[in-house]
Amino acid sequence: MLEDKRILLIISGGIAAYKSLDLIRQLRKRGAWVTPVLTKSAEQFVTPLSVSALAEEKAYRDLFDLTDEAEMGHIQLSRSADLIVVAPATANLMAKMVTGQADDLASTLLLATDTPILVAPAMNVRMWLHPATQRNLATLKGDGVGFVGPNEGDMACGEFGPGRLAEPVEIVVAVEAALAEGPLTGRRIVVTSGPTHEPIDPVRYIANRSSGAQGTAIARALLALGAEVVFVTGPAEEPRPEGAHVVEVETAKQMMDAVAAAMPADAGVFAAAVADWRVDGAGDSKIKKQDGEIPSLNFLENPDILATISQSKSDRPALVVGFAAETDDVIENATKKRLRKGCDWIVANDVSPETGIMGGRENAVVLISDDGAEHWPRMQKDAVARQLADRIAAKLG
Ligand code: CTP
Repeated sequence: MLEDKRILLIISGGIAAYKSLDLIRQLRKRGAWVTPVLTKSAEQFVTPLSVSALAEEKAYRDLFDLTDEAEMGHIQLSRSADLIVVAPATANLMAKMVTGQADDLASTLLLATDTPILVAPAMNVRMWLHPATQRNLATLKGDGVGFVGPNEGDMACGEFGPGRLAEPVEIVVAVEAALAEGPLTGRRIVVTSGPTHEPIDPVRYIANRSSGAQGTAIARALLALGAEVVFVTGPAEEPRPEGAHVVEVETAKQMMDAVAAAMPADAGVFAAAVADWRVDGAGDSKIKKQDGEIPSLNFLENPDILATISQSKSDRPALVVGFAAETDDVIENATKKRLRKGCDWIVANDVSPETGIMGGRENAVVLISDDGAEHWPRMQKDAVARQLADRIAAKLG
């Protein structure tokens, strides 16, 4: 049920806008309050009168006048809801969201809001599959915007493929999921993940074998419990966790800056395999082969992100979780590492090649805390993530 939840429903132009009427009806039936906003082109497909009649609320229109501003300014309107739903969302509105344009009421609300956003796109199949729209989709997902649909099928324009607006009932299910409360609802958690790449010169870099699988699984598990997740990732193949605020970085220094910018947070989970060193003097010129000479590299130490945040006077999250990738004396080294860095928990694992853990789907970890070392059985990285997320939820209360 959506009892007393407030939904700001932005309806943009497109033949699928007629389905928004049924969506309003279904949301109202479940007890939600719906404040409709129509773009100028939406008014070509549905009338403000029918929309506001079903919503039993005033329909805000693109051509809103000063009375509206006096009643409820656009900033307040954009923040008064528990969730903003854009259904249907045109390719154009998605593009405007990506570039932060605010040239009408709908796009201004989307730019001014700090409320979670759920987008239900609807457009011609070619427009949906166009690289520009797919780029925009990836960017918006990275900004933490949720999506439902589009579905595949016959389209009003006579073509077939993905682009149909999700059915109202599917959108309602997505709304319920987006508003579902979990034990971590209202908690902000920063997760680092993946390797870092440290440039040697413009074409070469030093990397490590981290796939980002464990960090991504942890971000997903935290999101599933309702947390707001800032996911700071180095270059990893793993698909990004949907619904997280994704910050892509390359180097350890960039990761440090991104984590610092993401504070304050209730918890930090530092699963990234951060390079300990960077190459001194890595510049803009490619190192050329010189007859008979072998180049030598000098290294500088990278900032230790986990230690910096653990020991921060101003920005330390209530719970800081580090990882320890070890090949020898796992528990002894990880126990020392926890004390040295000053984090609360260390998730230690043996990354010797024969374990197949680095880059694999499974993990066997030991959780080290004030209470000692707790051995978890070998399991899928997803299962480790869920167990860790449950522990974090229990700890943060
Ligand atoms: N870490 C970090 N910043 C660094 C290095 C490591 O935040 N510059 C974090 C990792 O994300 C992990 C923990 O510190 O949570 C331990 O990483 P690990 O590579 O095991 O330890 P190191 O500090 O690199 O120590 P060593 O390589 O000597 O084992």
